[in-house]
Amino acid sequence: MQKLGMKMTELTYIAPCHFGLESVLAGELKRMGAQAVTPDNGKVEFSGGMDMMARANINLRTAERVLIKLASFPAKSFEELFQGVKTIPLEDFIGKKDAFPVKGWSLNSQLHSIPDCQAIVKKAAVERLKAHYHQDWFSETGPMHQIRFSIMKDTATIMLDTSGAGLHKRGYRAKSNEAPIKETLAAGIIDLARVKDFSQVYDPFCGSGTFLIEAALKALNIPPCLRRKFAAQDWGLCDPIVWQQERSRGLDLMKRDTEFFARGSDLDPECVALTKENAKKAGVLKKMSVITADIRDFTAKENTITFANPPYGERLLDRRESEQIYRTMGKVFRRMERAGYYIISPHDSFETFYGRKADKRRKLYNGMMKCQLFQYFK
Ligand SMILES: C[S@@+](CC[C@H](N)C(=O)[O-])C[C@H]1O[C@@H](n2cnc3c(N)ncnc32)[C@H](O)[C@@H]1O
Repeated sequence: MQKLGMKMTELTYIAPCHFGLESVLAGELKRMGAQAVTPDNGKVEFSGGMDMMARANINLRTAERVLIKLASFPAKSFEELFQGVKTIPLEDFIGKKDAFPVKGWSLNSQLHSIPDCQAIVKKAAVERLKAHYHQDWFSETGPMHQIRFSIMKDTATIMLDTSGAGLHKRGYRAKSNEAPIKETLAAGIIDLARVKDFSQVYDPFCGSGTFLIEAALKALNIPPCLRRKFAAQDWGLCDPIVWQQERSRGLDLMKRDTEFFARGSDLDPECVALTKENAKKAGVLKKMSVITADIRDFTAKENTITFANPPYGERLLDRRESEQIYRTMGKVFRRMERAGYYIISPHDSFETFYGRKADKRRKLYNGMMKCQLFQYFK
């Protein structure tokens, strides 16, 4: 395997994200100096050196992971898929002993059997590496090089996962309540609400504290994945100093002295304790106050951005309860000077119960669940 230089090697990357957050992620990438930033459905493509790969992993708030784009080519048959993968210089990334499992998906394409495509990509990768390393057997005991493929409208894209665990795994939420919002989705909503270093925020359904913690990380400019590890760190592909430099860069840009403050509440005292525990792990507890309270007792405040991920019932009885909660929210979320409300719900009829049309709506996916972000800021 050749060692690719630190900055010299310009690579193309793909960062997948929640549908609806592509422009937010593209904004993040542009602000951190990525080149050729191109949003697409559920992902953003960009380019940069190895330093950009490290920076993106450490700093991105709304990306699910950072993948190296190895190749993209038409593939209507297994043969085309096989030959396309075989031309990729995988030996530049994958060493003799490295593990290289394959995962992927296909949509609106002739090649639709995922297990078959997976087997073909693996076979082609093995053939390529066999020829390069002159060995027949791969122990795959070394560092993990997860190969990912996507086949969309008969075009295959082959990628290598530099992140390892998904980037929503910031390290602060070992425990969560029953229905936590994903960290990357919460971060996207926070970006849309324009949280700044002087903002005041509130979450009256704080659960495990995701909105409050993500808002604090954003306001204090703390890189969300500063303290975690990434798969590519084990590859020996880029100098460990690059990772160190990018972590130091993140630390230097942190804002320690800000007016930002987050308040939260939840009906369940265990959630209140959990929010505090998670905020402590994230290093932002000092910027937060959390109490046990029912949404009925919420009082709207000037100059405050309120985030809400209210409970939504799956069963009919639960659904009635959640509709009642929407009604209560409509009453207590009163219009206030410079206050905004950002509510995520899967219910199309949310506004009917809430009692007011949103000033803006945005379609977002919470995992596979289609939701809307109802925004009130007038
Ligand atoms: C969907 S969860 C919120 C998850 C949270 N965003 C997170 O990331 O962990 C809804 C939360 O609303 C709380 N809740 C339910 N009914 C409530 C009420 N009447 N007043 C305040 N909180 C309530 C639940 O305890 C639960 O933690």
